[in-house]
Amino acid sequence: MKQPLNFDWNYLDDFNEAYLKELPNNKRVINIPHNIFDVPYNYFSEKDYQKVVTYEKLFDVNEDIKDKKCILHFEGFMLQADIYLNDINLGHFVSGYLPVKIDVSEVIKQKGNRLVVILDSKEDPLVPPFGYAVDYLTFSGIYREVSLEVHPKIYLDNIYVHGDMNGNIEIQYDAVGGIVEPTFQLFDQDKKLIESEIPNFSISNPTLWDINNPYLYTMRIVVPNEVYEIKFGFKSQEFKEDGFYLNGKKLKLVGLNRHQCYAYVGYAMPKSMQIDDAKKLKELGVNLVRTSHYPQSEHFLNALDEIGLLYVNEIPGWQHISKDEIWRNHYYDFVKRMVLKERGHTSLIAHGVRIDESQDDHELYSKGNEIAHSLDKYHQTLGVRNFKNSEILEDVYGYNDFSCANLKHGVDNPKSVKTKHKPYLITEYMGHMQPHKPTTDISMLQHVALRHLRVLNDARKYEQISGTIGWCFVDYYTHVDFGSGDHLCNHGVLDLYRNPKYAAFSYMSQQDEKPVLEVLTNMRPGDFKEASYQDIFVLTNADRVDLYKNDEFAASFYPDKKKYKYLKHPPVQVLDVLGETFKDERFNKKEALKLAKIFSYGGIYGFNNLKPTQALYVALMYIKHHLSWSDLVDLWNTHISTWGGYAKTFTFKAIKDDKVIIEKTIRPSHRFHMNYDYDRNILLNEETYDVLPIRVSFVDEDDNVMKYANKAIDIKVEGNAELIGPNMQTLLGGQITLYIKSKKGPGQAKVIISSELETKEIELEVK
Ligand code: GAL
Repeated sequence: MKQPLNFDWNYLDDFNEAYLKELPNNKRVINIPHNIFDVPYNYFSEKDYQKVVTYEKLFDVNEDIKDKKCILHFEGFMLQADIYLNDINLGHFVSGYLPVKIDVSEVIKQKGNRLVVILDSKEDPLVPPFGYAVDYLTFSGIYREVSLEVHPKIYLDNIYVHGDMNGNIEIQYDAVGGIVEPTFQLFDQDKKLIESEIPNFSISNPTLWDINNPYLYTMRIVVPNEVYEIKFGFKSQEFKEDGFYLNGKKLKLVGLNRHQCYAYVGYAMPKSMQIDDAKKLKELGVNLVRTSHYPQSEHFLNALDEIGLLYVNEIPGWQHISKDEIWRNHYYDFVKRMVLKERGHTSLIAHGVRIDESQDDHELYSKGNEIAHSLDKYHQTLGVRNFKNSEILEDVYGYNDFSCANLKHGVDNPKSVKTKHKPYLITEYMGHMQPHKPTTDISMLQHVALRHLRVLNDARKYEQISGTIGWCFVDYYTHVDFGSGDHLCNHGVLDLYRNPKYAAFSYMSQQDEKPVLEVLTNMRPGDFKEASYQDIFVLTNADRVDLYKNDEFAASFYPDKKKYKYLKHPPVQVLDVLGETFKDERFNKKEALKLAKIFSYGGIYGFNNLKPTQALYVALMYIKHHLSWSDLVDLWNTHISTWGGYAKTFTFKAIKDDKVIIEKTIRPSHRFHMNYDYDRNILLNEETYDVLPIRVSFVDEDDNVMKYANKAIDIKVEGNAELIGPNMQTLLGGQITLYIKSKKGPGQAKVIISSELETKEIELEVK
């Protein structure tokens, strides 16, 4: 039996010995997951949340505890705590990113329990990832759920069900408190397939778990007075020297790195938001995520199992290795606890046991690898470094390849990395090589999108590269030593509010599930130097893009298979904004098309930048058709006139199998409105509160997000929910996400969003 203990904790922002007896009246009631205070979007101090605080939970146990084992289960708190139950000191516990389970059978009472947690979130140099500078914030609080487990006197812990592609099953577990002989029942949905007394058996022709069909079976493990239900899939994976294999078939891995922080609350987000991130990654079309740089929420990992997204995990750390024994013992302990927590996830393909980008350390990593292998023989280990020719004690050579210096070079030749004949995975690229704020120039956002594609393209050139994992999924909070001094690293393909930058479409455009068409510019010459359009790129998974100018067909453009020959869907470059719309009786069709291209080139890159051959052709036309200079000016003004004429309407149509699958219009906009995107009106309190994201964007009549809209919005939430973050916010790059958090339910709530345009009310129900 699991009894969630998440609602109605008492909390105080400090600690005093007297609190061990009783909390004073100024305590606040809070719910878990909890952060000790909301950090602003940017500019604050990480010192402010590093302190010792006190939590108290008063509770009764719902189930009869006589002759039972009672285990307190903390999914995660930052960083360490002294925990007391009914005035008894249970000990000192380090969590950080890993669960803490405490046997409280001897101290718990049926009714009237008082649990006190004295939590210290200071960065302790003796616990990884701390000891030196770290490029991410670790926040504070009991930020993952808490529960009480009530088991029979003899129960099972650390259950691991493993199924391979040949239908072989092995079940491991620790029997705590005595010896039991469990019965294992394999279920396919509601149908019992097999019952076994031994933990190794097989079935024939299982439906395999795959990224396109993440099929899960259920193993029921029956012991006296208790049944455990474990979901798992039949799947085999292997990194080999020539690439990665899933169920015996080669699969090029395309992934992104994920930090688990969110705006304002840091790490403290409940199940629904963890699932939301998993879904967002899947929608981006990637097949892999790296939980950089620490073990992440079980809700997130369960979602990966359910939706078919592979992952590699990683122990807490960042670049630094300490010589101190205490620190090193924490590292060993963290490897053990991470492997025990995560080995049963079907979506897992390797255990990341080396501290990200650390130096070689034979002793530390020999032992780290040994611990992982001894607990899990079915998953290889991965070690991530940022230098070539490093000692490799892991099964997979992970390398952060930041050689992507420009649009001409994506990745280094794997031979130069000296991977010592180990399987090879590029675990990071981009990131600090080109930070890009959601509010930055359009040309920069476009440049970053193309650089991601350059890496994906170049990595495909080399068979031995198992795959690539981009840095990173979302913008993240960081220490003052990194980012722009504002405590943000803008390396994400999505911003901190999970709204897309152009680079998100670099990934989305490589899948075929959903049509994609993203124009990587706003087609407003006034936004660029010399009043020119500058590079026009379109990301799409269609066969071609047809361009219309003022509703008239101009020209067709095709994916650039020359520069991006290994990509499934290369970017499409638009080099002619006039095409067949350039009509003038003085020229024949051929001449008109050629002039259209030349004028377009001038419009895109500036008239002064015409190539000599283009200038020559214009001169030729000038002479042949007895044009005057004024005629030329007139032609320019009529057709291009980036500065001095009416703005044009451009429509981009993505064509696949001769059908328009998606289109986008960019016109001189006259009508604007606020968009409110949310996918439900119900907040569902289960083991704890729920959070609903509402995306607010300022769009024009064609639903294009107006990137420069910095509208202020004022948000009020009434009734049974509350707003996360400040009541007044501004759009960031034309959009923002509001996070609405349920209070203990049930009840009604209303969100009122006011801007200079309107007041919008959204009714919600908390169940
Ligand atoms: C890497 C590091 C990441 C992040 C990234 C930024 O060196 O592993 O955590 O800092 O750089 O590009």
